[in-house]
Amino acid sequence: MASLHLPCSTHSTSCSHINRRRVFPMPSHFTTRTHRLQVSCSAAANGGQNQNVDGKVDRRKLLLGFGGLYGAANLVPTPSASASPIQPPELDKCGLSSAGADTTAITIPCCPPTSLPKDYQIPPDLKLKMRPSAHRVSPEYISKYNLAIERMKALPADDPRSFTQQANIHCAYCNTAYFQAGQDSIKLQVHNSWLFFPFHRWYLYFYERILGKLIDDPTFALPFWNWDNPKGMSMPPMFVDPKSAIYDSKRNQDHTKPGAVVDLGMTGNTDPLQLVANNLTIMQTEMIRGNSEAIDFMGKPYQQGTQPDPGPGSSERGSHTAVHVWVGDPRETLGEDMGNFYSAGRDPLFYCHHANVDRMWTLWQYFLPSAKVPDKKITDPDFLDAAFVFYDENAQLVRVTVKDSLDNLKLGFEYERIDLPWLDYRPPPQTAKARIARLASTAPKAETLFPLKLDKVVRFEVSKTKKGKADELLVLENITVDTSKFLKFDVFVNDEDDNPGELDKAAYAGTYAQVPHKTDSTSATSSIRLKLTDLYEDMDIADDDSIVVTLVPRHKGPGVTIGGIKIIENPPKSAT
Ligand code: C2O
Repeated sequence: MASLHLPCSTHSTSCSHINRRRVFPMPSHFTTRTHRLQVSCSAAANGGQNQNVDGKVDRRKLLLGFGGLYGAANLVPTPSASASPIQPPELDKCGLSSAGADTTAITIPCCPPTSLPKDYQIPPDLKLKMRPSAHRVSPEYISKYNLAIERMKALPADDPRSFTQQANIHCAYCNTAYFQAGQDSIKLQVHNSWLFFPFHRWYLYFYERILGKLIDDPTFALPFWNWDNPKGMSMPPMFVDPKSAIYDSKRNQDHTKPGAVVDLGMTGNTDPLQLVANNLTIMQTEMIRGNSEAIDFMGKPYQQGTQPDPGPGSSERGSHTAVHVWVGDPRETLGEDMGNFYSAGRDPLFYCHHANVDRMWTLWQYFLPSAKVPDKKITDPDFLDAAFVFYDENAQLVRVTVKDSLDNLKLGFEYERIDLPWLDYRPPPQTAKARIARLASTAPKAETLFPLKLDKVVRFEVSKTKKGKADELLVLENITVDTSKFLKFDVFVNDEDDNPGELDKAAYAGTYAQVPHKTDSTSATSSIRLKLTDLYEDMDIADDDSIVVTLVPRHKGPGVTIGGIKIIENPPKSAT
């Protein structure tokens, strides 16, 4: 049984600077992270939310909904003059959201209530709580969780903490309801960019606090769906009881059956052992093997004034997208609820899924071998000073920043320790060298095929940067997608067989995928980079002059065009 309390007391304190070790027990091959928790005294003073440092009220910020006085923590460093971090939307300008395209196009009213935000202060008496694995919780926990969701569903419809309004937040932030603040033509979208992890961390933080308040239990912690471990690769049993408050009838009925294994590769394979092997390969690749720099994992930069969907990170487009699509209901036109961003927040399982997504972020930040991605910190003020607004447990609209989301301990939660079987999982090589030499002699050169409409499996040869170069990245440029559809393709290198149901091989280099959502133009263009260094080593092909790449689409029909493909040296010299 999972305990909701920590065995030792690790209270955070206000107005003092303390050092403490992470309470997450760590395998010996991880270095211990010394954690410095800083709580600012001046930031905790709650009055004068909209005052400048000199005490004057800044009406412009108030009106713009920026929340006024930057918390003390925000006074230094001052964002550079050219910085343009994404700012919270102006809630009173929220419009109808939309989803689908052509014959399936719908508009959805999902604007949360409007009000004036205050800068959020992390409560000084925050106690560290442990989010439990959804497959290991006790009956008492399940009852408490259901009671909290029942009470949330019973709140008046216009209460911003109600079940519907909480789901609306997700819909509004991701399906064309909001404009970027101060813009009248550019829509705000928190997905497919570096805002993905911070936005959802704050979203769950407040959701959890609202639930805790409704059952008068400040220690209440959301469960996480441990889909990265074979023991958690099925729908958590508590969610499939049709009588419970956390049930949702709009789920894929084939996947609610006991024993149905999550398909992180979206291959359609139903062999449980194959699925587990695929899943571990995918987790290892999206968490470690395929990433060179922080943005490869986190997602591409996204600023005020730039178009939405600059590009998702490896985790967002991989396991995150797969679980949305796996849970969503194929009987519904747009894959509702989980299979489409506009409706995903209506399924209680969404928050359990996203707790594990958030857990992946903490693992990536603090527990993975740092040599693989030497610098995991994004220091760009356009990232750190980006901000959102949410309703807190007292129905107060509050403004929060990305920089205050970076440390889960500072926000008072940690995850139950579960083994990470993907951590050292290296998929087996299958390629016989002679066979690949033959493949390369028949595969066309990449230059002859691009731009490429990807609607079937294609194979082509790509030259390496130079002979014998062992440290490289594969770049797929100008990937233009129809955002209203589920789309996915996998990338393989020197893959000798074409069994599309098997991803558990060293030849697997990575994935592009998206959850259907809406953008104004219904299309988005981005690029992805896949690190090849470990793959070369696993397949013993570092000395070759070229590689043979296979692209395998997992969706049906058109929707993806790829502008070009190339290999560059790792680490990349410029942002590519
Ligand atoms: Cu905001 Cu998984 O979606």
